[in-house]
Amino acid sequence: MSELALLGGTPTRNVETDPWTRWPTFDEREEQGLIEVLRSGIWSYNGPKEQEFCREFAAFIGSRYALCAANGTVTLQLALEACQVGLGDEVIVPGLTWQATAASVLDVNATPILVDVCEDTWCIDPNEIEQAISPRTKAIIPVHLYGSFADMNAIMEIAKRHRLFVIEDCAHKHGAEWNGRKAGSIGDIGSFSFQLSKLMTAGEGGALTTSSPHLFARLDALRNCGRRPEGVEDYEKGAGIYGSEGNFVQSGNYRITDFQAALLLESLRRLPQQNLLRDQNAKYLNQLLAEIPGIAPMHRDDRETLEAYYNIAFRFHSEAFKGLGVQTFRSALQAELGSTVEGCYEPLNRCELYTPQTKPSRHRLSAEYWEAIAPAMFKLPNCERAYDNESVCLHFAILMGPRSDMEQIADAIKKIHRHAEDLT
Ligand SMILES: Cc1ncc(COP(=O)(O)O)c(C=O)c1O
Repeated sequence: MSELALLGGTPTRNVETDPWTRWPTFDEREEQGLIEVLRSGIWSYNGPKEQEFCREFAAFIGSRYALCAANGTVTLQLALEACQVGLGDEVIVPGLTWQATAASVLDVNATPILVDVCEDTWCIDPNEIEQAISPRTKAIIPVHLYGSFADMNAIMEIAKRHRLFVIEDCAHKHGAEWNGRKAGSIGDIGSFSFQLSKLMTAGEGGALTTSSPHLFARLDALRNCGRRPEGVEDYEKGAGIYGSEGNFVQSGNYRITDFQAALLLESLRRLPQQNLLRDQNAKYLNQLLAEIPGIAPMHRDDRETLEAYYNIAFRFHSEAFKGLGVQTFRSALQAELGSTVEGCYEPLNRCELYTPQTKPSRHRLSAEYWEAIAPAMFKLPNCERAYDNESVCLHFAILMGPRSDMEQIADAIKKIHRHAEDLT
């Protein structure tokens, strides 16, 4: 019988006796916070916990303002609306991301332009951005994916030259730093998700960061039924937030509850320590991975002064594993480790959850628009190679134990390497 756990052998890690860190983490501080909200009777609508969280989150990210919203999908939509992106505008997004990044562009009736990613970071390639810019381009949404950072120097330079908005999709990047500046403080707006699988979570939730008072005022009105933001006076009149009569802007309710804010406050207080631990472990794991034939860690730029890992990813090369397919490799690794091992996001030019043309009632704004949103016309070779052949993504909880866990992960991969012929 094979020694590989997938074929009935003993797993590298016995998760019955040695479980991975359980996610989400919480203790009596979260319980206390939730009880306080319960007893306060202020369960929602800019409650005290939400206000406290926004202050702390803005200070932590290094932006002037932070606002909460229902999730990391509507935060992108609100960010685009605040930048007054709409019909006739194009927004450049990477072809490798969760579908919400591109879907938010559709939600404001603009056109998502999908571009390829760098092969060694899976983040948007600045050269591809340059080539995709047209007179209609209004914004770029870089996504800092898994354990990598989009090249924010190059992106901000392009944006400045072409007068484009930059909305950083930081759903994976709570607290990571590029040249000492936190993700979400570099572009015009940062968009965060607090969904259950994320590095900070309230089950669901999202946040927006910005240092522009104008964008802040618009964002606050847009997330709160168009109401005039408290403390923001008439200076926004005529800047697009209010109608010509000085009315409030039309919008919906995208608020969160104070229960979520209570959880987020504690999540935020835990984050720096947790990020540091994950970053130290990831650096060590990447060193070990680099020594295994056929395994390539993601490229880490020197400007990534602190990384945040929503999943840790690496690239798998089948030739070094006797032609083993990446899907079988992932199953084998999952069996060895007893922890989820996944591929990367499906490329958006063939993603089954990104299918704008299944909704003609909403998206057939004109024949021209209908044609322009067809995902399949975009060429995304690096996204497709990552998805089809190379991507291996491990849950970030495996980075939250002792350093010896990293050796165990590397041992599990070496074991599969040694016994690859059993699976081919
Ligand atoms: C890159 C990216 N952007 C946006 C989102 C949307 O966040 P939410 O699930 O909170 O709507 C996600 C969620 O997984 C994501 O991974």
